[in-house]
Amino acid sequence: MKLKTKDICIKVLTGDEELQLQTYTHEYRNLMMLLFDKIYLEDFGECKGMGKCCTCMIEIIESESEISSLGRNEEANMQKAGVVNSKQRLSCQILVSEELHNATIKII
Ligand code: FES
Repeated sequence: MKLKTKDICIKVLTGDEELQLQTYTHEYRNLMMLLFDKIYLEDFGECKGMGKCCTCMIEIIESESEISSLGRNEEANMQKAGVVNSKQRLSCQILVSEELHNATIKII
């Protein structure tokens, strides 16, 4: 069975730069892997998606769709890291799906 894919465009704000990334569903395991692969980010995603290091933090500035809600581990680790802004997320816990199409995210 062939998986259906859909093009996804994401605007990424990093420091003074604004980048447009293009991907498609199932190209990457999660948003952290997409950012890690397409943008050189030092010390980003150190635990490679285990949800433990909190170095893959992003802020969802704008999105047309509701981005999947916090997983239990993500919520606990964000609290440990002192994060109180509900728009901040661990990018390794966000799937690359149509929900991200036309979203604007900021790398923290
Ligand atoms: S890569 Fe470590 S928490 Fe996301």
